Amino acid sequence: MSELRVLTGITTSGTPHLGNYVGAVRPAVRASLAPGVQSFYFLADYHALIKVGEPERIQQSTLEIAATWLAAGLDPERVTFYRQSDIPEIPELTWLLTCVTGKGVLNRAHAYKASVDKNNAAGNDPDADVTAGLFMYPVLMAADILMFKAHQVPVGRDQIQHIEMARDIAQSFNHLYGEQLVLPEALIEASVATLPGLDGRKMSKSYDNTIALFAPREHLRKQIAGIVTDSRAPGEAKSCEGSALFEIYQAFASEAETAALRQAFADGIAWGDAKQMLFERIDREVAPMRESYLAFMSNPGQLEDILQAGAAKARRLATPFMASLRQSVGLRKLGSQSAARNAKPAKASVASLKQYREKDGLFYFKLVDPRGRLLLQSLSFESPRQAAEAIALLQTQGAAALSTMAAQIQQIEGVSPDEVAQALAQLA
Ligand code: TRP
Repeated sequence: MSELRVLTGITTSGTPHLGNYVGAVRPAVRASLAPGVQSFYFLADYHALIKVGEPERIQQSTLEIAATWLAAGLDPERVTFYRQSDIPEIPELTWLLTCVTGKGVLNRAHAYKASVDKNNAAGNDPDADVTAGLFMYPVLMAADILMFKAHQVPVGRDQIQHIEMARDIAQSFNHLYGEQLVLPEALIEASVATLPGLDGRKMSKSYDNTIALFAPREHLRKQIAGIVTDSRAPGEAKSCEGSALFEIYQAFASEAETAALRQAFADGIAWGDAKQMLFERIDREVAPMRESYLAFMSNPGQLEDILQAGAAKARRLATPFMASLRQSVGLRKLGSQSAARNAKPAKASVASLKQYREKDGLFYFKLVDPRGRLLLQSLSFESPRQAAEAIALLQTQGAAALSTMAAQIQQIEGVSPDEVAQALAQLA
């Protein structure tokens, strides 16, 4: 049985802050421990070049982010943890994908459009200061994802469009060269908090309102002292609603601790005391990681070794896959030409609908992907003819038939409606 593959990248352009930790690092490290999941985490340093033109900062950020993930408990033995620029197959795949990507699709990418809109609003040339790197960003990101056949990509909402583009690009490639790229899906964790920053807006480098994750203890205390509050005096009841301090506390605290702070707010705790509580709570979680972070930071050679081992692990997948993709697009050794001519066309291997009889004497069918993974399961039918009719309906109408058949069909956990629709479309 193949495992669920989850992949995400972290752009190496800044210093990790509490918002990154709560919103990305902590949930990802936890998710990486789930059984039956194969995780890929990588430092997206090619992506960083799009925004950052300072070599020292790229290197420093790569070091800080690698140290952060490891200090937060990511186990490089268990997951594949690597640096994008150590995988030459990624830019190679980027080009193959570039050649099947519509320029019009890229014109619609939010990040690029935002820059153009800004230029237009300022009366500048629409493409002033817009690099081709920014324009091509979604294709590089698609290569990151498709190279490792990721099923799920945990990202923030701002990245959903990029995952959709990766799907579209993969579909175009598969259509032209045969079914080889896996269509990924965005994974948006509703339960993960977006942390407010010092000024109450979303914590983000672009608002300059962040609290560094691994600042020295005293610096952390000072930063927390700078969180905006209202002017209510000690003894006056305070509102949790809309309080950045309260929300940050909640992201670290247990339910019981949160309830206690809510009570303290109602009882009129002084802001200074509330800040002290917040500082202590964060420091309790961060202090052990900070120690490990500092150890990594003072030993970059060790980090480099870990990343090299991760790159070797990643390339054990990327190198043979890239070789087969090169074959399929026609980048071939000349000697292999005749073999290629005799080879079967790159016909997509497709999903199949299988009818069968259970021990209970009733009739069923199921939809399985080319590797045998279960995508859809029917409930029982009295006769083989009824089952066959249901199958025929799916074969002729595809996913459109699903709504009328809802009572006869069982969804499979972890299989998206898209995946089912896709498989049925291949059969139709
Ligand atoms: N673009 C992503 C961001 O800014 C980072 C990233 C690069 C990424 N490649 C990726 C995320 C591949 C998921 C998958 O957050």
